Amino acid sequence: DQDGALPPKRVLLAKPRGYCAGVDRAVETVERALETYGAPVYVRKEIVHNRHVVETLQERGAIFVDETDEVPEGALVVFSAHGVSPAVHEQAAERKLRTIDATCPLVTKVHKEAQRFARDDYDILLIGHEGHEEVEGTAGEAPEHIQLVDTAEDVDKVVVRDPSKVIWLSQTTLSVDETLERVDQLKQRFPLLQAPPSDDICYATQNRQVAVKTMAPECDLVLVVGSTNSSNSKRLVEVALQAGARASYLIDYAREIDETWLDGVRTVGVTSGASVPDVLVMQVLDYLAERGWGQVEEITTANEKIAFSLPKELRRDLVR
Ligand code: F3S
Repeated sequence: DQDGALPPKRVLLAKPRGYCAGVDRAVETVERALETYGAPVYVRKEIVHNRHVVETLQERGAIFVDETDEVPEGALVVFSAHGVSPAVHEQAAERKLRTIDATCPLVTKVHKEAQRFARDDYDILLIGHEGHEEVEGTAGEAPEHIQLVDTAEDVDKVVVRDPSKVIWLSQTTLSVDETLERVDQLKQRFPLLQAPPSDDICYATQNRQVAVKTMAPECDLVLVVGSTNSSNSKRLVEVALQAGARASYLIDYAREIDETWLDGVRTVGVTSGASVPDVLVMQVLDYLAERGWGQVEEITTANEKIAFSLPKELRRDLVR
């Protein structure tokens, strides 16, 4: 080994990482629905934004569709963790579908805030990523009251009726720092802008960002396990780079690691998005261990204890 006086090769493993309580519940919902009612179980949109999870459930009899009109009349459909607008519930009812709503309770909380402030006739500025399913669902609660703010340019386009009755809400999986930046920009235009009654960016998103922020300054490379359509996973790459990692990449599987990324690298940080099963992270650790990065140190910044009970529509049918 020519390593000489170089610092040892090591891996810093972020904790918390991976599954959040909302994802755990949504995935278990589909698994238990398959066991209880048998295949096929239809799922509107990806139950959670992870390729491996979706493919595994497909093998077990889940059928993923984009819209409820692809589900045969009377069949069972699960709504994904990202939430759905009232219009989707109505379409499902029209087609006499049996539904199980696996929307994360922390997304439902934001829907309730949207309903309440729309009822009080506020203009609601929803900070989030255009086209993301969660944002479509939340905005659908009160389309006449909600304007989406994604980019800095969107801030300039906002038009409100009464500047003293404006509130911002957000998608649950944004970058905390970037969101605060957007809020500051909005406040310059609307000094009386109100903040959501409690954090909309969920505990899991925040905790994963804090963990990656803590380890990134020491890392030459940060590998984030997660799918390209996973908002919170993509944010982890951005946070790692902003916090000082020399490089950071998003990968679904260990096999996507490009050997050249490891050139000249001593410390590799590893984390994963909230929709990622830990087995995929373990495969990344195996890959690294085979190449000399066998020393793994876990960097713990929070201990998560939160869990959500399964949707009530499912609970009442479960065989005990
Ligand atoms: Fe829910 Fe946050 Fe996970 S909103 S699904 S706990 S990332």
